[in-house]
Amino acid sequence: MTSKKYNFIVLAAMPEEIGNFVKKLNKLQMHKFGDLDVFQGTYINEPNIQLTIAWSGWGKVSAARAVSRLIGIAEQKNNTVDLIIFTGVAGAADPRLSQWDIVISEDLVQHDMDASPLFKKFVIPSLGKEKILCNELIYHWAKDSINLTKNKDKIGEFGKVFSGLIATGDRFISDKETLKSIKDQLPNLLAVEMEGASVAQVATQEGIPWLVLRVISDSANESADQSFVDFINTYNNSSFSLIEILLNNLKTFPI
Ligand code: ADE
Repeated sequence: MTSKKYNFIVLAAMPEEIGNFVKKLNKLQMHKFGDLDVFQGTYINEPNIQLTIAWSGWGKVSAARAVSRLIGIAEQKNNTVDLIIFTGVAGAADPRLSQWDIVISEDLVQHDMDASPLFKKFVIPSLGKEKILCNELIYHWAKDSINLTKNKDKIGEFGKVFSGLIATGDRFISDKETLKSIKDQLPNLLAVEMEGASVAQVATQEGIPWLVLRVISDSANESADQSFVDFINTYNNSSFSLIEILLNNLKTFPI
């Protein structure tokens, strides 16, 4: 058990992407803000970790709204937030990736951001850059924690661990042509989803470290919708265990 106090936010778009977390919280408190339910408590294995947890709904606006609200709640009583984790499923944008593979974002781009000709395509005007870079220390901590745990035990159904570029946009990608047109512009792209870069933008603007952690549900092709629906129901039973790998490795938390 650690003596420092930690204040983490865990957010996903859908309840299935966070899973069965309620029984893992002590001193559970619930708050309601419009249609947003927020759960707060201390993690059963590490009482010094306060967790503020919610699901936002799909898309960049819902995710930005939820994370802004969660930061306000988690920071009550002058507690600064140590880390925002956004988790959930993603479509594979690289043929090496399969269902259940884990993707840790090194950087994120909003593939539907285009303020040209005033700004180069993909540049987020309020950040002045196209790619939102992770915090290197957090990124390595997450990657090492997952790889170490994976080498020791079988971590459920989870597959290989990848890290690299994730693209976010308000579009569920379900055809090869759309995926190709995004990939042609972002050649190292690993995965596509609909919230991560919006949360990373808010976190960056608020000066809070963030981590986007995704699991592949589909291949962003013509069968993406069916794969997604089939996967998400099963994933509900495993999603929180991915978060717990991190929560159980606080002794090497870098900040
Ligand atoms: N999340 C999971 N699969 C996705 C896809 N194919 N497109 C966008 N977001 C996703």
